[in-house]
Amino acid sequence: MSMMTRPLAQADTEVADIIANELKRQQTTLMLIPSENYASRAVMAAAGSVLTNKYAEGYPGHRYYNGCKYYDEIEQLAIDRAKGLFRAEHANVQLHTGTQANMSVYFAMLQPGDRILGMKVEHGGHLSHGKKVNFSGQIYEAHFYGVSGESALIDYDEVLQVAKEVRPKLIVAGASAYPRIIDFRRFRDIADEVGAYLMADIAHIVGLVAAGSHPDPVPVCEVVTSTTHKTLRGPRGALILCKEEWGEKIDRAVFPGIQAGPLMHIIAAKAVAFKEAQSLFFREYQRQIIRNAQALAKSLMEEDFNLVTGGTDNHLMLVDLSNKEISGKDAANLLEEAGIVVNKNLVPGDQRSPDETSGIRPGTPGLTTRGMQETEMEQVGKMIARVIHEGREKPKVVTEVRQQVLELCEAFPIYEHL
Ligand SMILES: Cc1ncc(COP(=O)(O)O)c(C=O)c1O
Repeated sequence: MSMMTRPLAQADTEVADIIANELKRQQTTLMLIPSENYASRAVMAAAGSVLTNKYAEGYPGHRYYNGCKYYDEIEQLAIDRAKGLFRAEHANVQLHTGTQANMSVYFAMLQPGDRILGMKVEHGGHLSHGKKVNFSGQIYEAHFYGVSGESALIDYDEVLQVAKEVRPKLIVAGASAYPRIIDFRRFRDIADEVGAYLMADIAHIVGLVAAGSHPDPVPVCEVVTSTTHKTLRGPRGALILCKEEWGEKIDRAVFPGIQAGPLMHIIAAKAVAFKEAQSLFFREYQRQIIRNAQALAKSLMEEDFNLVTGGTDNHLMLVDLSNKEISGKDAANLLEEAGIVVNKNLVPGDQRSPDETSGIRPGTPGLTTRGMQETEMEQVGKMIARVIHEGREKPKVVTEVRQQVLELCEAFPIYEHL
């Protein structure tokens, strides 16, 4: 058999084995990381297709390579579906990552040294919203707003006050770890009052927005950026939606500005995901994500966990472990031993470092994809509580919960066809 036609398992046993192990890990653990999900078979088929083979620098109808007929078709389809799904005037679907989507917007709308105003990472914002260790904090003069010390909700009066002092050219609304509704209209009013552009980064809540389960930023922002692999459940990647007047500048900032050859197989997979997201089933899926998050939050609170803001309106919650004498890092490691995968996270006002943290950030997109509902969330809450409350002293508890996790995974299987 030629090198070209051998199946992976024969061609490269080392890689095949690692992938097989990872499949098993995904099948046999409870994945509660809110920025992850399980892509559908159709999305993965497009991502693993022959479209990986082609250079297609440029945009549909204007390519720098020959042989792009089907690449024009697939990218136009993805663009049209993205515009339809989000009722946007313009869409760019070439972005490799969410960070590059944000970078493209800054390059299109700002000059180096311009002022931007984003949410503090320590309060839930993202690196690419102006953090000093990121390009966004190095090229631009970044200023920040945060959440209120008491309610842990975004303090819109503070946003306005800081915006008036700073006079930013661009305000970034959006977060990686904020469990409540974001009031984009309020951000619009603030941006208008200080003459700033408004960008919403909906990387996390994009699925909820697409399904109408979170207020829509598209009508009130010049530009909206998002990833495609979190609640949207597509392939790894990102997109930008914007008003028509910004379309050309955004497109040029993406290519040739910061990217060259687009990942056409991933663009095809995005097109599939956008179609999936238009279905009634997807709308119901997003509603169930929220119901599940609220059920998990309730279960955790009943087990004496403190939730930042006292609950959730979206797909994630921030659990403040300060009353538990365990760091977020240790809690996440202990939970992983039991087969429950969460990520550690800073909580507002955290005294620990970003590597240790005092919190974890569970979310429900993944478990909801597996078909779990409120009853299972209640069980998962109890399992998390047992591990954190007793797991350090009693390894047997961790083993017992691991067994329960396996049973739950078997009852709600994933990727059975693989
Ligand atoms: C709000 C927000 N924006 C942007 C990103 C960046 O996405 P990527 O990891 O694809 O660069 C993330 C990722 O977690 C995010 O949460």
